[in-house]
Amino acid sequence: MEVHHIGYLVKRLADSRDAFAALGFDVVRPVEYDPIRDVNIEFIANGGYCVELIEPASSGSPLMPLLKKFKNAPYHLCFIAEDLEKAKEEFEGKGYMLFRDIEPAPCLDGRRVVFMVNPDIGIIEIADKEPL
Ligand code: NI
Repeated sequence: MEVHHIGYLVKRLADSRDAFAALGFDVVRPVEYDPIRDVNIEFIANGGYCVELIEPASSGSPLMPLLKKFKNAPYHLCFIAEDLEKAKEEFEGKGYMLFRDIEPAPCLDGRRVVFMVNPDIGIIEIADKEPL
């Protein structure tokens, strides 16, 4: 599957953007609020590497426990699926556990995404190829 982005948890998105800018990353999709996950999200890229900066917007954000655990760190790779339901089933059959079931991702133009966990590689995200 094609890799879409690397999801990167950050404490302070603006500071992280500046630090990544010094490493050659440009903003490709400016910061937006995702009300489903209570996070601010911005996409930045350097060549073929697209990074999703994810900043919990409040202490109640479902991503806050992960930020406390991982600090500023990459924590998921996002892959593109031709057929999201089929990919979910296929990876469940390969021993992946469901972490967050299929939901729309407002910051990906409303494409749907699913988060799954593999005991050997951690969290992956799978996204629709196109917005529905
Ligand atoms: Ni992501």
